[in-house]
Order: sequence, then C-alpha cells, then structure tokens
Amino acid sequence: MRHILHTKQFAKDDVEHILSAVPKMKELCDNLKTGARIERPLEGKIIACVFFEPSTRTRLSFETASLRLGAKVITAENAADNSSAHKGETLEDTAHTLSCYADAIVTRHYEMGASEKMSKASSVPIINAGDGANQHPSQGLLDLYTIKNEHGRLENLKIAFVGDVLNSRTLRSLVPLLMLYSGNKFYFISPKELKLDDEYRKFLQDNNVDFVELDELDGTLPEVDVLYMTRVQKERFANVSDYEKVKDSFILTPEHVAKLKGNAIIMHPLPRINEIDPVIDGDSRAAYFRQAQNGLYVRMALLLYVFNL
Ligand code: CP
Repeated sequence: MRHILHTKQFAKDDVEHILSAVPKMKELCDNLKTGARIERPLEGKIIACVFFEPSTRTRLSFETASLRLGAKVITAENAADNSSAHKGETLEDTAHTLSCYADAIVTRHYEMGASEKMSKASSVPIINAGDGANQHPSQGLLDLYTIKNEHGRLENLKIAFVGDVLNSRTLRSLVPLLMLYSGNKFYFISPKELKLDDEYRKFLQDNNVDFVELDELDGTLPEVDVLYMTRVQKERFANVSDYEKVKDSFILTPEHVAKLKGNAIIMHPLPRINEIDPVIDGDSRAAYFRQAQNGLYVRMALLLYVFNL
C-alpha cells in the first residue's frame, strides 16, 4: 500500500515516474474538454477528501483529479467542525472508519504527523494534503514539476525561499525533492523571527546541502533561477500581535522583479495575501497560476502512482 506522507519517502526513480506521467494527464484533460473518448483508469474507485483545515487548490484539485480519472469523490470540507472529530473521535478511529468506505483518503490537518497517525489505522492509502507546518507532498511534487517545465532541468539551480521559512510546509516538501538533483543552491530569506528551526538546519547540514540564510532580498535577486515567495502562516502563530509584526516583511514589487534574470521564475503555493503585488501577474516570469494549474495534472499522476497504475 502506498501512503503519501512525506517527500523524503520518494527515491529519484519514483519522482521521475510520477513526473513522466504528467503530460499524459494534461492531454487527458484536454481531450475531455473536446468530448473525445478517454481512458478512465480510476473508474469504480471512491476517493475521500477529508480536510480539517481550509483549502481551495489542494482539495478541489484532488477532487477534480479524481473525477477526471473516473473515480467518485466523498468529501468533508470542514471536518474539524462537521465530522465526528468535533465530538472527540480520534484521528485513528476516523481513518479506520473512512477506510471502510473509500479506496484512498486525501487529508489535511493542523497537527504535524496527523497523516502518519491516520496511515497506521487505515487499510487504504492516506495522502497527506498538509499536516501543520510539516509536509505537503503533492505540493512539493507540483512545484518540482513546475520548475522542470519552466527551466527544462532540475539540476544546478539557485532557489530562494522568501517569507515564512520557519512554518512553510511547502518549503519542507520541495527541498528534499530538489536534494535528489545535483548542484542546487538554496537561499532562505526571512525575518529573524521566521528563520529555519535548528532541527531543519541540522538536517540540511548533515546532508551537505548548499544553503545560506539571509534577512534581505535585494542582493539575491539577480542570481536566482527560482524566487519562491511564501505566505506568513497566520494560523501557526500563538498570538496575533506576533503575526502582525512580521506579516508584511517581504512584499515583491515590480522594482524587485526588474532585478531578476530574464528566465527566472516567480513561484508561490498560493493563497497569497500581500507577498506579491498583483501587477506582477502579467509578467511572463510569474509562474504561480501555471503552478496551480500543474497541481491538477500532478495530482492525477500521483493518484495513479498510489494505485500502482
Ligand atoms: N497551496 C495550497 O495548499 O493551497 P490551498 O491551501 O488553497 O489548498
């Protein structure tokens, strides 16, 4: 059984296998729009999407991916309030029960390690769609695919993560995937309150990852191939005043973008709040909506991988 819990679980072959299926998933979606006859590899399957935290892209693209592949979807979009978790049911019992109904469970939870906990009680695959500040593996894969699609390679890249480096599960998901490829250098740019935690810094050092930690953006802009903006994760702060102090630490403006290389790309997992001036959306280097679109195709490819198809 293939649970998807953490991007560290993937060998390079797994990643290449999943990414290689993505163009076919796009073709399948394009064919569906023209009314052509298409394969429905997940026909007869039921996918449960159970989200204890809000989501637009992840839940709806997993649901779309399932439907495009011929599966049916059951969903709990506000499971913290509307499932029996609200009455105090444990995650393990929820997972055990859902695995009596569905063939795979896509789940998001505010607690780190929630998906892993559920995987121990489930008889069907669990797909982690975000567990606190820990992991968001399908986001890591779609980000990796986007970089490959935009740059034509996954090696020898300079990637800057900007904003909430401490709480970004998308950073923690993408970095181990990029570590599978040689010559990549990382820049972690954040206010001092949102720097990498000691454990993650040690993980990078122990694995000889080439990285620097910075508190300003401008000097790095002309060097990077990928500028990955992140939202300051309000929901991870114990009090609002701490959030207010750092929430607008980095706001990307057209003046910043003017300093980027012509072929650099700007990424963001979305939703954005103030991190990117919307006027930048029209710049060809703004890849964040292409990134969101890729999420559908990558999640289709990931579902096929989960079912070993
Ligand atoms: N990128 C991402 O996870 O978006 P949602 O929170 O809208 O799912």
